Amino acid sequence: MSPKSRQILVTSALPYANGPIHIGHMLEYVQTDIWVRFQKLRGHDCIYVCADDAHGTPIMLRAQAEGVTPEELIERMHAEHLRDFTDFGVAFDNYYSTHSPENRYFAELIYTRLRDAGHIRTRVISQAYDPEAEMFLPDRFIKGDCPNCGAAGQYGDNCENCGATYSPTDLKNPVSVVSGVTPIEKDSEQYFFKLEDFESMLKEYFAAGHVQPEIANKMNEWLDEGLKDWDISRNAPYWGFEIPDAPGKYFYVWLDAPIGYMASFKHWCDRSGQDFDAYWSQDSSAELHHFIGKDIARFHTMFWPAMLHGAGFRKPSAVYCHGFLTVDGQKMSKSRGTFVMARTYLEHLNPEYLRYYFAAKLGPGIDDIDLNLEDFTSRVNADLVGKLVNIASRCAGFVNKRFGGRLAAALSSDELSRSIVATADRIAGFYEGREFGKAMRDVMALADRVNQYIDEKEPWVVVKDENRLAEVQDVCTIGLNAFRQLVILLKPVLPKLAAEAEAFLKVDALAWDDLGADLLDHEIDRFKPLMTRIEPVFIERMVEASKEDLAEEQKLQQPRGNASSDPIAPEIAYDDFARLDLRIARIVAAKKVDKSDKLLQLTLDLGGETRNVFAGIARAYRPEDLEGRLTVMVANLAPRKMRFGVSEGMVLCAGSGDSELYLLHPDSEAKPGMRVT
Ligand code: 2FM
Ligand code: ZN
Repeated sequence: MSPKSRQILVTSALPYANGPIHIGHMLEYVQTDIWVRFQKLRGHDCIYVCADDAHGTPIMLRAQAEGVTPEELIERMHAEHLRDFTDFGVAFDNYYSTHSPENRYFAELIYTRLRDAGHIRTRVISQAYDPEAEMFLPDRFIKGDCPNCGAAGQYGDNCENCGATYSPTDLKNPVSVVSGVTPIEKDSEQYFFKLEDFESMLKEYFAAGHVQPEIANKMNEWLDEGLKDWDISRNAPYWGFEIPDAPGKYFYVWLDAPIGYMASFKHWCDRSGQDFDAYWSQDSSAELHHFIGKDIARFHTMFWPAMLHGAGFRKPSAVYCHGFLTVDGQKMSKSRGTFVMARTYLEHLNPEYLRYYFAAKLGPGIDDIDLNLEDFTSRVNADLVGKLVNIASRCAGFVNKRFGGRLAAALSSDELSRSIVATADRIAGFYEGREFGKAMRDVMALADRVNQYIDEKEPWVVVKDENRLAEVQDVCTIGLNAFRQLVILLKPVLPKLAAEAEAFLKVDALAWDDLGADLLDHEIDRFKPLMTRIEPVFIERMVEASKEDLAEEQKLQQPRGNASSDPIAPEIAYDDFARLDLRIARIVAAKKVDKSDKLLQLTLDLGGETRNVFAGIARAYRPEDLEGRLTVMVANLAPRKMRFGVSEGMVLCAGSGDSELYLLHPDSEAKPGMRVT
């Protein structure tokens, strides 16, 4: 460890294990990863841990809906999440799970220490209960009509139509999403954490600048209103850790979730021989930084420091909140195709485009960040391809062709290099303060200056004069050294491009301290384009693919055990039904769709007319078993452009999840083309 080296432990929020990672999540992981990579590049001892948040009712119910155990579900999600993060260049030192022995140990330890210090008390409370499913219902698992505007199908906590917030007991015509029956109120004893015991500690904590001013103001408002007890228990059936001295009661998922930061770190310590206590004991000199979204600030800036303090651990040095991601100025939308899964993005675009764009937009505050798809395209093309990579491509050709790939042994001027070094401290300050947008602006201004230098020197003109070749080598060596410096400055944001640039320059992994040392009399490799332009069609394809993905995902978001637990949709008029043109169709051909484990491509005969339809039934049928069968299709559905081709209608299926989808099968008397009425 060098004398200036800091010990820094960094976390991002733990994503729930009941759904895939999307680009909204990715904003946070990219922000954290850039900060962590910056600290490592500067030579600090920085550890980045995370985990899946693997407990809670939604995970239990999703596993039921899929017909798998919660353990199977969380194992699959863990692998998928980690693959998405890794492919986005997010480099955790450890990615673990809250369903782990370490997490059980720390959850029990913290709970018993809090209990023994008198910070836990019990109380009987009344909560919504599903008498058919025999379980208490979280707010999100009750639906009904909004008490304010009357909109149907609203959740128990707030209305998506008018924005009103309320409690589930206020909903009109409430039904349990689990079974479809009307919930009742039921009393039970619960365990509460006495947050009020920590009022003065929290006041001091907020005053000491550990959280952003906007967040401190909000938390202080809550402090002024008086701190309420926090319910940390849930009744069985619940997917989580049972409370040690309370059979049938489980820790609420939010109790053991942040403890997952400790557990992941402990898991890493045990494998790497590091000292857990050096980071978590009350007198630790290490730093602890949490990156989170602003929606979960209260858990991290009130409950979590209070739990840690009450249990004799250190508190976070800093909790950094960020805003939400919008796309083209609006909330990410499933129907517009702007709710983009990480995997879908990766299938169409280079992750470093998005890392750069996020960096260019990120600041230290909690404002929302907008991904404007047009601006994204033009900014990435202009900055990364047009400015940064262009420097290398303008210089490398001459060095490769005219000088055998060798850089000059001495330079006519170090002015450009010095000007970059002179700006580097300011850029470092911006990274440290999470002012990534300002850092990117400075780096691009430097890139402009380098391009301007090359423009002025015109090596493509000078090279025509055999007597001035040394000048060309000089200019290109200066240009490539400046490129190398810019790569160092951007390495936290563009790790993949940096690794490729290091290979091209034939240098070891670059660190911040390498900024000042020029590469002279050194052989470089042949130049390959380090990044290509975004074409608008790539974005269009990603948006189209996202529309398809969401239809699949939505099916699994709502738990539906059987037909009776899937409530009937609101009434429609006869005219609405009559607009559907349903026809008998014969499946004349069926085949698998490349790279899709869900879709089959069907050729349907409608009695003279043939249609091409993609249907999400690949998990239920072998294509060869379908050929010749009759089924029912919606014949007047507008054609939909999908990733694999155009779908000209839809076949009707009955199902309760991905694994059980049954094609409707009319009597054999029916003939292709007949209208279904
Ligand atoms: O809001 C969420 O997605 C939570 N799973 C975040 C948990 S962060 C930490 F406390 F574990
Ligand atoms: Zn409403």
